[in-house]
Amino acid sequence: MAGNIPQPFIDDLLHRVDIVELIQGRVPLKKAGHEYQACCPFHTEKTPSFTVSPKKQFYHCFGCGAHGSAIGFLMAYDRLSFPEAIEELAAQQGLDIPREAQFAAGPDRQPLYDLLEQVAAHYAQQLRTHAAAPRAVEYLQQRGLTGTIAARYQLGFAPPGWDHLIREFGSENKNLLHEAGLINQTDGKTYDRLRDRIVFPIRDGRGRVIGFGGRLIGEGKPKYLNSPETPVFHKGQQVYGLYEVRQTHRQPEHLVVVEGYLDVIALAQYGIDHAVATLGTATTSQHLQKLYRTSPKITFCFDGDRAGREAAWKALQTTLPLMQSGRQARFLFLPDGEDPDSLVRGTGAAGWEAQLAQAQPLSTYLFNHLEADLDLNSLDDLAQLAERARPLLSQLPTGTYRNMLQQALEQRVGIKTQLATPTPEHTQRPVRRRRRANTRTMPPMRRAVALTLQYPQAAQQTLPEGWEQLQAAGIDTLRQLINQASTNPEMTSAQLVEQTEDPTLRDYLAQLAVIELAVEDDAAEQLQGILRQMLTTERRQAHADLLQIPPGQMTADQKAALRTLYGQ
Ligand code: UTP
Ligand code: MN
Repeated sequence: MAGNIPQPFIDDLLHRVDIVELIQGRVPLKKAGHEYQACCPFHTEKTPSFTVSPKKQFYHCFGCGAHGSAIGFLMAYDRLSFPEAIEELAAQQGLDIPREAQFAAGPDRQPLYDLLEQVAAHYAQQLRTHAAAPRAVEYLQQRGLTGTIAARYQLGFAPPGWDHLIREFGSENKNLLHEAGLINQTDGKTYDRLRDRIVFPIRDGRGRVIGFGGRLIGEGKPKYLNSPETPVFHKGQQVYGLYEVRQTHRQPEHLVVVEGYLDVIALAQYGIDHAVATLGTATTSQHLQKLYRTSPKITFCFDGDRAGREAAWKALQTTLPLMQSGRQARFLFLPDGEDPDSLVRGTGAAGWEAQLAQAQPLSTYLFNHLEADLDLNSLDDLAQLAERARPLLSQLPTGTYRNMLQQALEQRVGIKTQLATPTPEHTQRPVRRRRRANTRTMPPMRRAVALTLQYPQAAQQTLPEGWEQLQAAGIDTLRQLINQASTNPEMTSAQLVEQTEDPTLRDYLAQLAVIELAVEDDAAEQLQGILRQMLTTERRQAHADLLQIPPGQMTADQKAALRTLYGQ
């Protein structure tokens, strides 16, 4: 399962991540004894049976059987692939996935990333040194930007001229420059895409430069030119400024989505460092998933004009299916003619915060929008409202929030409404009943494996001599688990599970990791006891087998074995 990601890295990652903190950011947990609980995000329930164990670094739902490590949780909840989940956790921890571990197949993108990084540095240097740069610097100053903030966002200058980049980076890099979206090609001729513009490097979640936005100095059209889609730059997925936000807040409580690069930067200059922008595109579901993975609370900020209102309504529709419990969405409409940049410059950070406080919760905005042209005293219009709201509310994932909005609708229209059942993957899992393992009749090998998984420290005690020579089915797995557990004193259940490469075995171990075992501070003794018992059973069996052989036909080895069994 590990593909090319080295196991020690995954292990180290799981060691750093706290599953409680990770899940808490998405599903509010309550402490219950040594563990944490919530209503399960993977099936509908009224009483919490979803448990997270800080000790095991594992979650488990006794209602539907969902279980896993931090990696498994991200895969299930954020619907990520295994490598994406690793990337996500690594990014949260500020770790780079080791280079030789670039994911399995596919071309190596490193040369592209390297080139983009060099170009960003080069453009930044040109802003300081190029003969034509003072105009750009003046423009930035006139817009109120400080050198510090320009440096933080690594603003740069793309000099005028058609072949600046080729001259700078050499024609041997022509193909790479083209692949990076930095030069255009027509009729065999190549020329720089960004010329005489202020440039904004765009970084991905791990801080790698993936593209650029370029603004004209002064007025004109097109005001902005952005990198085209490239193998590493996807506008529908990337969010400008998210990396920079995370540099100051690993898990920001709140994100504000604005429209422009300069809005993000101006807000940051006023100390409002949780703003991000989409790249001149509508907000996609992928953007939102990325944002909600970072923070449970998002405010969308739009111009008060018609285009802004249309964009807002689209964003609301994109958000609905993602409104799992614990998440919040708000909508802020700015006064006509203002954008966050102009507002914060005009009214300061306090003025901006005051605006932000005016943002409407999703539910308010939704009903306001639907009711705008309706007369709620008219029965016909009330029916209209129900008709309009139903398909929208049906998109909400099941849970408290959906129920509350349904109730709000019912109160408005005065009748019960039926919503369509949503079909997100989460709710499609078959509901398994809680199975209590009958630990008495559990085969000893399975119990030994479960004990080692749940109490890795037990494996660090001295185990009965000869246990490694056991023959029983499953001994290979047990041997491996015990070896892993005994080499690292802080090993958790989750790490042991995730170190297992075979997906079937991994899933099986994940179940054993949460099965109930009657253990009271005696895990080590129990493990030793089971191993001793298995050794005795196997010795007895071997003895019986040997005694089946007529003495005259015994080989020297068999005779020696018999002597050993008699302890001679
Ligand atoms: P705006 O027109 O609101 O510009 O575009 P702005 O961000 O306020 O920029 P200033 O203040 O005039 O300098 C918002 C975003 O839309 C995209 C850019 O990403 C921009 O930041 N855009 C806009 C383009 O891609 N191309 C354009 O020509 C204009
Ligand atoms: Mn602006």
